[in-house]
Amino acid sequence: MNALAVSEPLIRGNWINALADTGWAVTHALVSPELAVQLRREAIDLHENGYLSRAGVGRAEDHALLSSIRRDKTKWLSRESAVQAAYLDVMEEVRLAVNSSLFMGLFSYEAHFAAYEPGAFYKRHMDAFKGARNRVLSSVFYLNEDWLAEDGGALAIYADETSTEIADVVVPELGTLVLFLSEDIPPEVLPANRDRYSIAGWFRV
Ligand code: OGA
Ligand code: MN
Repeated sequence: MNALAVSEPLIRGNWINALADTGWAVTHALVSPELAVQLRREAIDLHENGYLSRAGVGRAEDHALLSSIRRDKTKWLSRESAVQAAYLDVMEEVRLAVNSSLFMGLFSYEAHFAAYEPGAFYKRHMDAFKGARNRVLSSVFYLNEDWLAEDGGALAIYADETSTEIADVVVPELGTLVLFLSEDIPPEVLPANRDRYSIAGWFRV
C-alpha cells in the first residue's frame, strides 16, 4: 500500500506558509491520488451500507436545533482498515511538519468520514471555542469526482470570527485538503445538491 504520499519538499511547502500567514491552507500535494480513490470508495461503501449516522453539535442535544445547524452523517476512522490507517499516517506526517515548523504542539488526531446528502449543509460555525485549546487545527479532505459548481456543497471560509465576508471558497473535489486553525477560522458548508463525501479531522493539543 502506498501509505505515505508525502515527500520532504512538499511537507515544507507552501501550505505551511499559507497556514502561518492566513490561518488556512488548501493543498493537493499531501495525499496520493491512489489513496484518495481508495478513501472515496470506502466512504461510499460505508454510506451505502448504512454505517454513517447523523452527527451531533457540541452542546446542542435538541434534534430540531441540530437539524437547523448541520445535516451530515459521520463515522470515525479506525486503524482496523488499512486504507483508513494510510490516511491517518499521512495526517501524522502533517502533525509532525506543523509541530516542527509552527511549534503548535499538536498531540493527537481524530477524523471521521462525512456524507452530505442532497439538501444537507453545515451552517457557519467554529470547530472549537476560542482559548479552549482542545481542537486547534482542523482538516477536511474531499472525496468527490467531477464536482461542478451547480452541485453546491462548497466550503466557505471566513477570515476570522467576526468577518462576514467569505475569504475563500473550496470546491470539494477529490484530492483537495483544507487545513485551518480551529479557534480562529469559521467554516460553512453550503447546501449540497448531490452526495458529498469528505473526511473531517482535528488535531488536539
Ligand atoms: C466539519 C466541517 C467542512 C466540510 O465537519 O466540522 O466544518 O467542508 N466540515 O466538510
Ligand atoms: Mn467544522
